[in-house]
Amino acid sequence: MTSSTNQFLKPLTTQTNSKGNLEIGGCDVVELAEKYSTPLYVVDEKTLRSICQDYKKAFGKYPKTNMMYASKALCTSAIATILADEGFGFDTVSGGEIYTVYKAGVDMSKVLFNGNNKSYDELTLALEVGVGRISVDNFFELALLNEIAQSKDIVADALLRITPGIECHTHEYIQTGHLDSKFGFDLTQIDEAIELIQNEYKNIKIHGLHAHIGSQIFETSIFPDEIEIMAKEISRINKKFNLELHEINIGGGLGVKYTEADVPPSTYEIAELIINKLHEVSEKYSIEPPTLFIEPGRSIISTSGVTLYTVGSSKQVPHGTKYVAIDGGMADNPRPSMYQAEYSAEVANKKETTDTELVTIAGRFCESGDILIKNIKLPKLEEGDILCVYNTGAYNYSMASNYNRVQRPAMVLVNNSQSDIIINRETLDDLVSHDLIPDRLKK
Ligand code: LLP
Repeated sequence: MTSSTNQFLKPLTTQTNSKGNLEIGGCDVVELAEKYSTPLYVVDEKTLRSICQDYKKAFGKYPKTNMMYASKALCTSAIATILADEGFGFDTVSGGEIYTVYKAGVDMSKVLFNGNNKSYDELTLALEVGVGRISVDNFFELALLNEIAQSKDIVADALLRITPGIECHTHEYIQTGHLDSKFGFDLTQIDEAIELIQNEYKNIKIHGLHAHIGSQIFETSIFPDEIEIMAKEISRINKKFNLELHEINIGGGLGVKYTEADVPPSTYEIAELIINKLHEVSEKYSIEPPTLFIEPGRSIISTSGVTLYTVGSSKQVPHGTKYVAIDGGMADNPRPSMYQAEYSAEVANKKETTDTELVTIAGRFCESGDILIKNIKLPKLEEGDILCVYNTGAYNYSMASNYNRVQRPAMVLVNNSQSDIIINRETLDDLVSHDLIPDRLKK
């Protein structure tokens, strides 16, 4: 089976340059760290575009496919511009994500709005900017969406988010498709929702069903299983309610390679299974081949991103662990402390050093749990060395915080030896810019 770029540990352009330093996107990583300071998020445009091409080629055999990048993985104006240029639509989950892609000039008819507790303001914004689909999650939202659409005298184009009852083997916090989930209508609630739409909520038009099973998935059987359940439901609903639903949104979830031990499936393999299954269910349930929506997030953006850190203090516990601390950690990458996620790293300025030792990379935040990588063999680290952590494109910046009142890092886009800032580093003034001191406290 053809391999795809999401299966790589490092960006495609990663190599050692003539100075013996790590190079990504034709840029010397040590020079990037000097120029922009650290911690620094770096995104390799070639890798990102190559992954988009993989998806387009893989699903090209099924022209009824709509690819919607799950922007929760990394949502910035420049990234939205690249994805839109590659022909992707967007899965958004907040007013902030909708606003970001809208301001980036994205075709809003290719945007879907999803989430289990969308607010009145967010739904209003979504309808005002003309998002293509709203995935309605629950009965409360059906009523709210209908009310807002009615007040604007428009019909909201929607999908019903359902819980298909499929469990996947990933971290419990990132499973979503199992029966007792906070997301979506239970299969037994679908008919009541459809009846309400047919009889009461005249300002909502349902086009199909939406589900998402989980994230960082390696099991290929999950997607066909999900399609089986959704197609069966669609055919049943269409017959029972005399409808013509024909859209199936199977969510995202394809995994990536964080460490050598991870073997994620290729986009081509997944696409073939999905397409074959769509043809199969269309015959089996006598439905027209469904229009497919997919919402990959991690597998689109993760591999193209790395984070650069500068090494600071270190501590050898007598007869124990050697901790080496870097200038970032759980605020710029909360995944190790939240999900026990594992990462791989290299020392950008010591690519040719063979003298290695086993260390634990500690973050700079005030928590014992702020450990970025446990027990990794690296060249002997000294203060000032530049550590490059791979596969940080997804769910790092997007989940970053200002914990300990530390500024969020900058992000640069690299390509053909050029580097451009796409997110400015926060300043100390940014940190206090929203603070107010009530007059009565002022002396
Ligand atoms: N569609 C829906 C409805 C989703 O809920 C998600 C992710 C996606 C698509 C994209 O899934 P992906 O292709 O990225 O796996 N913060 C966690 C991941 C949470 C994913 C939430 N939903 C992490 O860092 O692992």
